[in-house]
Amino acid sequence: MSNKVTLIPGDGIGPEIVKSVRTVIDALDVDIQWEEYNAGLITFEASGELIPKALIESVKTNKIALKGPITTLIGKGFKSVNVQLRQMFDLYANVRPSLSIEGVKTRFDNVDLIIFRENTEGLYSGLELWDEANQIADAVARVTRVGAEHLIRFAFEYARKHGRKKVTIVHKANILKITSGLFLNIGREIAAEYPDIECDDKIIDNMCMQLVRNPEDFDCIVTTNLFGDILSDLCAGLVGGLGVVPGANIGEEIAIFEAVHGTAPDIAGKGLANPTALMQSAIMMLRHMGYEVQADKLTKALLTTLANPETRTGDLGGSLNTQQFTDCIIKNLNN
Ligand code: NAI
Repeated sequence: MSNKVTLIPGDGIGPEIVKSVRTVIDALDVDIQWEEYNAGLITFEASGELIPKALIESVKTNKIALKGPITTLIGKGFKSVNVQLRQMFDLYANVRPSLSIEGVKTRFDNVDLIIFRENTEGLYSGLELWDEANQIADAVARVTRVGAEHLIRFAFEYARKHGRKKVTIVHKANILKITSGLFLNIGREIAAEYPDIECDDKIIDNMCMQLVRNPEDFDCIVTTNLFGDILSDLCAGLVGGLGVVPGANIGEEIAIFEAVHGTAPDIAGKGLANPTALMQSAIMMLRHMGYEVQADKLTKALLTTLANPETRTGDLGGSLNTQQFTDCIIKNLNN
């Protein structure tokens, strides 16, 4: 595998957290060369390209990218760059772990969940219809056998490889009998091939209630695009919020690592963002690239920093800004 990584700063808090993570990785003993390209409104205004061809070529060649969040306008404007990138490179598995952080006080102490969200279809297919005359809006929630099989098999393989015990299929097949029903049926078919892994299924609304009451009852969760998006923010809330949870968009050949959170316009440009979520995404990237030792070293430094209430960012009750927090992690790398 090439050691070149395409680095996409994004917008909002993106450039601040990307700078932090790049600085920390450069302080590790790891041979990574960054190729920086941006996308979104910034490049559209500069060159007319929402996703520049150079970025696409770089991702195709390097097969790996680390990405900051990119704004998507609400109810108008261009189709989400994030969704476009996932569809363009067929990054069908969105892996979003939520793990309790020692010392960070939340309602639950031992949350250890991984969401596997279908990443290219469902209600994010982009198939929306507008009937102006009758003022009716429709959206297509596409589920394909190929897409569902890819994702669900990925989840079971991951569970087996990482010693996880259970996969819960989350759906709404009582109402969406054909689409969600297909996803559930494929889930049950694939589960039968993995007798070593317990499998159950839950309807999405019940799942939300169960997760906020008893998150320890769950392990791996596999679901369609919209449900996975919502559930992963819910799970982020169980372990300290959006500032701490990572994500990976994985396809057969290409992987793009990014935090679950967005551009956080309320704190952008103030130097207050918590880079932990992107840092954890970068740790997933290091493991994907085979840099296990460096990933362990960075995890230790990050957790040591977070364990001390005085070396946290504001979202976790601390008083450090992004730069000071970054400096602490680098110091802890060398301790
Ligand atoms: P958001 O995730 O940007 O922010 C939600 C809340 O969490 C805000 O209060 C924010 O300050 C806080 N937060 C998020 N990340 C944080 C961090 N690293 N440190 C400290 N606090 C943090 O969600 P919102 O406001 O709904 O979306 C803003 C924009 O981001 C929208 O345009 C949306 O489309 C886009 N977005 C992009 C994503 C991506 O690029 N993958 C993912 C999610 C949203």
